[in-house]
This record gives sequence, C-alpha cells and structure tokens, in this order.
Amino acid sequence: MIRRLPGGYELDDDPARLDIDAIHHFISELSYWGRGRTRERVVATIEGSHRVVGLYRAAEQVGFARGVSDGVTVAYLADVYVLEAHRGRGLGLELVREALEGDGAPDVHWLLHTADAEGLYERFGFRRGPTRYPLMERMRPNAEAPPASAG
Ligand SMILES: CC(C)(COP(=O)(O)OP(=O)(O)OC[C@H]1O[C@@H](n2cnc3c(N)ncnc32)[C@H](O)[C@@H]1OP(=O)(O)O)[C@@H](O)C(=O)NCCC(=O)NCCS
Repeated sequence: MIRRLPGGYELDDDPARLDIDAIHHFISELSYWGRGRTRERVVATIEGSHRVVGLYRAAEQVGFARGVSDGVTVAYLADVYVLEAHRGRGLGLELVREALEGDGAPDVHWLLHTADAEGLYERFGFRRGPTRYPLMERMRPNAEAPPASAG
C-alpha cells in the first residue's frame, strides 16, 4: 500500500522497495541505538518484522520504521527514523501513524524505547510505562544498547 504525502513524499509498506544500503547506513552509522549493526543483521530484522514502512522522496529512502508483533497481543515499534534533512515537517508523525494504524497494523498493546522523541509518541497515546504491571527487561550482554529501538 502506498500513501502519498505533501511535498512529493510517499509511505510504502512493500518490503521489496526498501533500500537496504540506505537503512543500514543510517542505523549503523547515524542512529544512537544501532551503531555497528551489520548489513546482514539489518536484513534479518526486516525479515523478522511483521510490517515495515518506508518513507520515500522519489527513489530516495528518507525514513523507515518497522513493527515486530504476534499480531494478537503485543507489538514493538523499532528503528524509526527520518533523515535529518527531511525532519521537522510532519513526516515522522505520518511514518509512525502508518506503522501503528495503517492497513495491516495489528490492534495490540504497543511498546517502544526512545531517548528523545517521547513527545511524538505521546501524540499516539503512548505513555511512559509501566502502565499496569511492572516492566522488566532482559538485556543481551554485549549487544547493541537498548534492544532495537525507536528514534
Ligand atoms: C524522531 C523523528 C523520527 C521525528 O521525525 P520528524 O519528521 O522530524 O518529526 P515530525 O516533523 O513529524 O514531528 C512531529 C511532532 O513530533 C515532535 N517531535 C519530533 N521529534 C521530537 C523529539 N525528538 N522530541 C520531542 N518531540 C519531537 C515535533 O515537535 C512535532 O510536534 P509539533 O507538530 O507539535 O511541532 C526524527 O527526529 C528522527 O529520525 N530522529 C532520529 C534521531 C536520531 O537518530 N538521531 C541521531 C542522529 S546523529
């Protein structure tokens, strides 16, 4: 499904359209959560996601988000980014909206990690947890710091 946005931008949930090199470049070199992630692991995260959303301007991949879910109870939003040159014009908001509420997005309990974009996620009803029960996490020793994460 393609959703057109103002300014010549497009959201597309087709995994085949993703520019893996561009996503790998951002996550491994520019993100604060996935520095050093190999291209192979980027491909594996995409294959293991229930849904991916790419943000494009013509042929260029300018943003990305993915969700990992069982489709029934819970989902985790990860690797959300918009390239710096394209930030501040509502694209992050539409990218997250598409990941959470677009066709094929599960109606479940969503989780995410973010270092600095709480305000954006609050717009979609996210609240600093735990909401009902304590939240526990099991870190992987020597892994990328936090598990996968949203920007
Ligand atoms: C978080 C991110 C996806 C937002 O993308 P964006 O396209 O700039 O977001 P939008 O323009 O849609 O912003 C939507 C709303 O969320 C808010 N928002 C965006 N980023 C925010 C942040 N970091 N903290 C708090 N609120 C934020 C905006 O203020 C805006 O609210 P407004 O409409 O009331 O002004 C983007 O900043 C990003 O990719 N961050 C990655 C960070 C990163 O990896 N940095 C390391 C680079 S070295």
